[in-house]
Amino acid sequence: MIVTIDGPAAAGKGTLAAKISEKYNLACFDTGMIYRAVGLKLIIDGKNVEDEDSALGVAQNMTFPLMMELSKHPDFRSSAGGNAASKVSAIPSVRQALLQMQRDFAKSPRFPDGRPASGVVYDGRDAGTVICPNADKKFFITAAPEVRAMRRYKEFQQKGISTTYEEVLAQTKERDARDSSRSSAPMKPAEDAVIIDTSNLSIDEVYQKVCEIIDS
Ligand code: C5P
Repeated sequence: MIVTIDGPAAAGKGTLAAKISEKYNLACFDTGMIYRAVGLKLIIDGKNVEDEDSALGVAQNMTFPLMMELSKHPDFRSSAGGNAASKVSAIPSVRQALLQMQRDFAKSPRFPDGRPASGVVYDGRDAGTVICPNADKKFFITAAPEVRAMRRYKEFQQKGISTTYEEVLAQTKERDARDSSRSSAPMKPAEDAVIIDTSNLSIDEVYQKVCEIIDS
């Protein structure tokens, strides 16, 4: 079974994908990680994240082990990491270079400890539209920018990352605008996706809703 969960940053996709992964024995692919890995590698190498040649070079050499290694870096989940990811992900050739790696994951899905899985749950922006247009179930999870910014701000606070709510809100809106207006694979719900606005829902309510739809 292939399940896709797309939507903007901090809508609750990651938490939902983890719960779905556990319940249905599906390997989870957080596709934002590969864009974060490419963006962070460029920053570490002192390159401009908007320079196509540099970004494409990194994307063409991106592998799962390198992505996992980079994910340990303190900036991987920071605002700087998210912004760099959003910039490299707007470059069409970079998206193209990373497409096969994302599709191939579903050919022989495995959990991080090597156990085989019964399928994949993708967490991303274009999983239902581009990566797996034939997925069994597609969801588009969203929430008001103010609600998402507050969730992200609280996460940063818990991790001891110094920032303000206003700064996180501005970055959330900036990333939304870039993700939905880019020419290649803009963020949008697949025609056959179920759209869920989580602004006034708890994670458990969203999870129940999604499970009902999968089970049906
Ligand atoms: O989901 P996450 O916040 O980790 O993603 C970081 C950035 O990577 C997003 O803002 C988006 O610009 C980009 N991205 C993408 N396509 C995906 C996943 C993430 O363009 N499938």
